[in-house]
Amino acid sequence: MKLILDLDTGIDDALALAYALASPEAELIGITGTFGNVPMEQGIANDLELLELFGRPDVPVFRGIDHPSWSESFTVMPASGRFHGTNGTGDVAIPHVEGSTPATLSGMPAVDFIIDAVRANEPDDLMIVPTGASTNIAAALKAAPDIVGKARITMMGGALTQPGNVTPFAEANIAQDPEASAALVMSGARITMIGLDVTTQVKLTREQAEEFRATGTAAGAFLADMLAYYIDATETSEPYSAPGCNLHDPLAVAAALDPALVSTFACDIAVDVDGAGRGRTIGDPKRVGCPSGRVKVALSVDAERFVDRFMERTLDLVRRGC
Ligand code: BDR
Ligand code: CA
Repeated sequence: MKLILDLDTGIDDALALAYALASPEAELIGITGTFGNVPMEQGIANDLELLELFGRPDVPVFRGIDHPSWSESFTVMPASGRFHGTNGTGDVAIPHVEGSTPATLSGMPAVDFIIDAVRANEPDDLMIVPTGASTNIAAALKAAPDIVGKARITMMGGALTQPGNVTPFAEANIAQDPEASAALVMSGARITMIGLDVTTQVKLTREQAEEFRATGTAAGAFLADMLAYYIDATETSEPYSAPGCNLHDPLAVAAALDPALVSTFACDIAVDVDGAGRGRTIGDPKRVGCPSGRVKVALSVDAERFVDRFMERTLDLVRRGC
């Protein structure tokens, strides 16, 4: 399966990238930069350094839209800084390995890359995985309506059965650009929503994080330090929840590659854009009785199978690469 990752890198975005690179059935054809955990420019700088660290400088990175559709500019939310640090990787520097080849930024805008890729591939061969604001994807679908019927999207975002994580109603990725998320989920594209309903069920513990350090590699030490920051932040902010950190974005990549990891419910989603509920994902009252079948929401996950696979694959990548 070919993948495009649309990342706001971000600790769990970095883990999602590692998982994609570690998955033999995935062909990562490009990373498009969005904003959220960090400004878009910081996110793509992180992507380039991570690709170099993981020995994959061949993967192209594309500069995306750097602000929400409802505003001329973007400011990182305080909660994002608490979870991801000011640099997006928990204030841990991404190590440079002696002799490694730098990755390069493409001159092509992210939206153009997404449009071309959907046009050039069969629908079942390409999955777009947005794990930040929906701005790039919504802009691509708006600019090229011919790709709506072909595009397949597995997105990390939203919450159907749980409260939000940045407001009582809104999940962070949807909250960054509710108008873009609303346009995306109403577009008619085939979408699987991997929201807090399932991503809060997949936890990585301190003991598992230390397994990366035990590899004795620079990449392993980096992942362990970054995860320690993320686990501290998560356990402080969510003391009622199980120990460890949530593997939000890696689960979206894993479900894109293996949909059987989650079970889904066909439900056309709407996104509230007004009032206290701004950013809430909810069943569209106008379509509730006649689901199109094009939007599915993951409601349960085989957490043990996913976390075991995540550890096995990413440890293998770290041992192999760096
Ligand atoms: C989502 O928001 C971001 O902080 C994470 O990277 C993830 O994509 C979780 O709500
Ligand atoms: Ca993210």
